Amino acid sequence: MNRNPYEKPELYEFAFSWRDYVKAVDFLIEAARLAGKSPIKSTVELGCGPGQYCREFARRGILSYGLDLSPEMALYAQKYYDDEKLPGYIIEGDMRDFRLEQKVDLACCMMATFSHLLTNRDIVDHLNAVADNLNDLGLYIIELPHPRDAFDTVKSTQDVWEMENETGKLTTDWCSDGVFDPLTETDRGTVKFRLEKNGLVEQFESPSEARRITFGALRALLDLSGRFHIASMYGDLDVNIPFDNAKAAWRLVMVLRKNP
Ligand SMILES: C[S@@+](CC[C@H](N)C(=O)[O-])C[C@H]1O[C@@H](n2cnc3c(N)ncnc32)[C@H](O)[C@@H]1O
Repeated sequence: MNRNPYEKPELYEFAFSWRDYVKAVDFLIEAARLAGKSPIKSTVELGCGPGQYCREFARRGILSYGLDLSPEMALYAQKYYDDEKLPGYIIEGDMRDFRLEQKVDLACCMMATFSHLLTNRDIVDHLNAVADNLNDLGLYIIELPHPRDAFDTVKSTQDVWEMENETGKLTTDWCSDGVFDPLTETDRGTVKFRLEKNGLVEQFESPSEARRITFGALRALLDLSGRFHIASMYGDLDVNIPFDNAKAAWRLVMVLRKNP
């Protein structure tokens, strides 16, 4: 058993390679522009993992930092910066308490990384830390599962999927065995990677815990922190998909503006 799924950065990156990161960064820049921030001159990706977004910003000449708690992920993402001589770098650190070398225009926290903030205290500390590292009227974009997924109705995502390329065939099971604890409002389960390559099979398993936050609790914590207000919301990484309860809206993407 591994400590957490982020000890295997190359498998994590392979598992999530279904997303078009160039398009995702186009969206982040457009959402920021629509919220009044353009051009973006500097960014930070929080819980950056392999750094898919921060390095895409950096490839566009934007000073871009990545921050991650996992030493394995930080090393892995930094290698892209070194190999491609990108502007910025990766910091091994905690998104609840960090200080960048300089403040940035835009912060983002993608996929469901925000769910790793397990307690209300974690979330408020995190919002304070992000605000302290943003320029005046800077923006913070958070992507989360759609709030309907917090209830046992219809799920918008799948827990088990396959990816195939020249590396082999990777089957990912992201906590299909997850058990919800209503006292902590967290799900605890097992992340399993099964890589099949040239007839050989490698398997990695690790525990994972994530906060199942409701929309109401999230808004209450935002109000409590007093550091941000909601500038806009989308239902996908697409400015044409509003955040509502339609099927097309399968995510909650919040664009937060730092309060003066
Ligand atoms: C689901 S992965 C997301 C990676 C990437 N941002 C993406 O969208 O695919 C979550 C990442 O958050 C990191 N993480 C979890 N808690 C963290 C914390 N308190 N501070 C910084 N990084 C954290 C993990 O190490 C992991 O790399």
